[in-house]
Amino acid sequence: MYRDRAGYAGYRKIGYEFVEGNQMTQRILLTGGAGYIGSHTYVALVEAGYDVVILDNFSNAARDVPDRLAQLVNHNVQVIDADVLDRVKLDQVFADTRFDAVVHFAAFKAVGESVKEPLAYMQNNIGGLVTLMQAMAAAGVFRLVFSSSASVYGNNAQLPIPETAELSFGNPYGHSKLVCEQIIEQTVASDPRWTVGVLRYFNPVGAHESGLIGEDPAGIPDNLMPFIAKVAAGELPHISVFGGDYPTPDGTGVRDYIHVCDLADGHVLSVQSLFREGKGHLVNLGTGRGYSVLEMIAAYAKASGRDIPYQISPRRPGDAAASYADPRLAKDLIGFGAKRDLEDMCRSSWAWIVRHAQKTGA
Ligand code: WQD
Repeated sequence: MYRDRAGYAGYRKIGYEFVEGNQMTQRILLTGGAGYIGSHTYVALVEAGYDVVILDNFSNAARDVPDRLAQLVNHNVQVIDADVLDRVKLDQVFADTRFDAVVHFAAFKAVGESVKEPLAYMQNNIGGLVTLMQAMAAAGVFRLVFSSSASVYGNNAQLPIPETAELSFGNPYGHSKLVCEQIIEQTVASDPRWTVGVLRYFNPVGAHESGLIGEDPAGIPDNLMPFIAKVAAGELPHISVFGGDYPTPDGTGVRDYIHVCDLADGHVLSVQSLFREGKGHLVNLGTGRGYSVLEMIAAYAKASGRDIPYQISPRRPGDAAASYADPRLAKDLIGFGAKRDLEDMCRSSWAWIVRHAQKTGA
């Protein structure tokens, strides 16, 4: 059994007493692990046999997520209620527990919000990474998986987009991710002890098949899929399709939507590669297939059985006409390939909405 950490400030145990894992079991710290992608990755890492500890300040995650995760993994979920900007707390975490690697999700990720609050995004996303890496190095932990984004590719990238495409940014969120990647590159070059996996996500959507965890944005969603879901659930009257005159098959924006559980599997493969190969990688996590806004609306209507009214509206500033990944390098370097299709994405999202609405009485 783990020695009792009752005296550990901010340490909370969920469910029953945590049973010490196999001494050979590798332990992962998952920052932002109560969030949308983080919670799905938590389940995938536990199912892959890792001991996983979540560190989250719950600024963008419901406080009952760990309890729901405990139902999914059927054992105690360890949660440290902390902010990656808090170096003192991070030093305490690494002093208290041996970690073999860190998967870093904790960051702000709303493009629209980043335009209104650029300094908050720079401080949180860049400052958080720097503080985390400093605390890791001080504790002798040098394996890191970093959550990056396709938003580091400019809007005119060649299609499909390879990892070698020109890097740029169209908003403070994408800028913060690009700067983080550059900081990681320089840190790895300065100290060969670092092995880092950089994962550039395209458009994560969908939910775990249980319907217990999923995307749960506060307020009016920024992203397409949660907005469609709220229209399907009757919470919003219609969806505005941002632009119907793009040079795409039906004139609406095309994106590479990837099931969040495929994304989670990609993180497991990234962590396994760091341990196995002892070297880092930088890869896209996408399907290589783009779908238009109208295709997404039609697929969701079919999966939910709900009518989804929409209106063609003016283009959203900063949007690219089309963006989808070249997925080959992820396959070559870490053996990643998306398995779930558009129907899985929409069906799982709708199952989450139905179950979550029932739970919240919405
Ligand atoms: C998708 C498509 C819109 C809303 C951003 C970030 C990316 C990632 C995902 C964090 C576009 C259209 C959208 C709506 C619409 N975030 N749309 N009506 O902008 O591709 O990517 O979110 O990692 O890093 O850059 O995603 O879902 O906002 O838009 O027509 O109400 O849906 O124009 O074509 P995006 P999105």
